[in-house]
Formats: sequence, structure tokens, C-alpha cells
Amino acid sequence: MKAIILSGGKGTRLRPLTYTGAKQLVPVANKPILWYGIEAIVEAGITDIGIIISPETGGEVKAKTGDGERFGAKITYILQDQPAGLAHAVKIAQPFLGDSPFVMYLGDNLVQSELSLFLEKFNTKSLDALTLLCPVSNPSAFGVAKVDEEGRVLQLIEKPKDPPSNLALVGIYMFSPTIHHAIANIQPSPRGELEITDAIQYLIDDSSKVEAYQLKGWWLDTGKKDDLLEANRIILDTCLNSNIQGDVDEQSQVIGRVQIGKGSTVKNCTIRGPVTIGNDCHLENSFVGPYSSIADNVTLIEADLEHSVILQGAKVEGIHQRIVDSVLGQRAHLKVAPRRPKALRFMIGDDSQIELS
Ligand code: G1P
Repeated sequence: MKAIILSGGKGTRLRPLTYTGAKQLVPVANKPILWYGIEAIVEAGITDIGIIISPETGGEVKAKTGDGERFGAKITYILQDQPAGLAHAVKIAQPFLGDSPFVMYLGDNLVQSELSLFLEKFNTKSLDALTLLCPVSNPSAFGVAKVDEEGRVLQLIEKPKDPPSNLALVGIYMFSPTIHHAIANIQPSPRGELEITDAIQYLIDDSSKVEAYQLKGWWLDTGKKDDLLEANRIILDTCLNSNIQGDVDEQSQVIGRVQIGKGSTVKNCTIRGPVTIGNDCHLENSFVGPYSSIADNVTLIEADLEHSVILQGAKVEGIHQRIVDSVLGQRAHLKVAPRRPKALRFMIGDDSQIELS
């Protein structure tokens, strides 16, 4: 069994962060989203992994993720030179996949369940395709499945205006090599992409063995800010262990599950977990509340925040109103003058959002 992880795409819904980096490298609890997928695949016993990259962000994904050694896997990078659809990504991965059955994993998806549960079902039933479904409140934003009473998939429709159910297709699929034949027989959709939903529909119409499994537990597609914050909250809630390596002075209070990385200093602060703080950060006279992830080299001076994700090298100074539900990009700098400011001065990237509420 092999796996491919899709790590291309433009990440338009996470702009401006994705102007300068791949959406799959945006951190959740200080770890790139993509790495959760790699770890889940390795945990299920699959170590031969192809990562599909784009010309824009492929170099960064490759440099950060490496050859797979750190995960106990062998990673092969496969360049998709244009975003021509999920089925197109499988097509270009065919030389890597050969005749092997495989898992296809969208690099911005996170699920609670273990992959091995689904793999077992896929293997024992000798299926041609296994899809995962999850009930959602906004099915029109996803691929949607129409299923019969026994859970058999009757129809799959990509982003339907009038969805036949609330069951969205999760971005994790298992295929036998027959999928390549299906992909060779489909045409690009109206949005100009070779859709994996159309290829699976081809298998269904061809009486191949296609089943769907309803996910238990959470599923997050981290394509948008609020989904990213929610993923951050869930991962901190379920996976974080206390580990303090940095320097915390006696005036500071650290409460609950908190991680503080090497070389970080914390002076006269209150940190209320779950919170993760990276390496070489400097925190002074600040409050960091639950569900916050602070990446390496961040400076917080006279700052007050919670339920937020702060990326590498960012700096916040003199903000005592609580910063909540926020994502700060790499090296972003927020500063308020010590006395009540008379002017607001901004230098903000394209597609940024600021809300003074
Ligand atoms: C893709 C698939 C869609 C699926 C979704 C899950 O959509 O085309 O069927 O429901 O991933 O994340 P995209 O995120 O590319 O719009």
C-alpha cells in the first residue's frame, strides 16, 4: 500500500498567509498541518509516500518536510505544474503509484479517527474505492454523497447548489489501481478540473465496489481562518502535554498544560493553558490565555491574548485589550503607544482583516 498527499493549491481562503507560504505548512499547535497527515499515514503502517507539490510552494514544502526520515517514511515529491484537479494529481502520480492500492490524503485535512480502521475495511472487502463521509451544515462547499439505507453510495456531486444530503466527502480516500482507468475516462468539469468525485462516480456507474464510511469524531478542513483556529483548539485540547524548557521567572504564573520551548524567556506573565510557545520567544508583562499557539521567535510585551495563533517572528507590544480569535502572520508587528494612541498607522498585506470591536 502507498499513499499520496496533495499539497498544492493556492489556498485563496487563507490569504494573506498563503501569499508567502503553502497553506499546508500553516501551523496547528506549532506543527505544519501537512505533518499530521504524514504521521497518520505512517501510524497506519504506510511508509512509501508521494507528496504532490505545486511550482509556487513546492520548494518550501520540500525544504521543511524533507525526505521522510524524521517520520520513519520515504517521501517522493511529485510536481503538479498546474492546479488541474484532484484526479489530475492522481494521474501524474501514476508512475509513483504503479499497480499499488493507495490512500489519497488532502494535505489540509485533519481527522480524529485512526486511518487503520478504514484501511482494514478497504482491504478485507477488496474495495475499488472507499470514501469517508461526515455530516456538515454547509454541504454545498464540498463534494456531497447520496447514499441508500445501507450506506452504499449512489451518487457523488461536487459542490452542488442543491445538495442531496448533508454528507460531505472528507479529503481522505482509498483506491485500488482501477481508479486510473476511471480517471482516463472522465472529462474536465465546468470549473476546468479533473474531479476525483467524477472518477469515483465512474466506478459506481461501472458497478465497481465503492463504499462509504461515516466518520466518527471530528473532521477539519483547515482552509479558512476559523477552521484553523478550531483545529488549533482541538489539537491543544487533546494532544498537548506540559513541557517547560525555557526560563520562567518567579513573578510569572503558569497554569494548566503549557509547553515553552528552548531559549524562550517569560517575565512577569500569566500563561493559562492549553498553550504552546515555541523556541526563542520573549514574553514580558503579558497574558496568554487558553488555546493559543505561539511559534518560534515571537515577542509579546505588554500584550494580552487568547484563542489565537501567532506565527514565527511576530511581535505584539502594548495591547492590553484582549486579542481573541486572531491569526498573526510571520513577522507581523502590532504596537500600541503607551498612552492612549491619537493615530492609527497601518502597513497591512493584501486581503488582511482588522476588526477593532
Ligand atoms: C475537495 C474535494 C471535495 C471534498 C473536499 C474535502 O474540495 O473536491 O469533494 O469534499 O476537498 O476537503 P476543495 O477543498 O479542493 O474545494
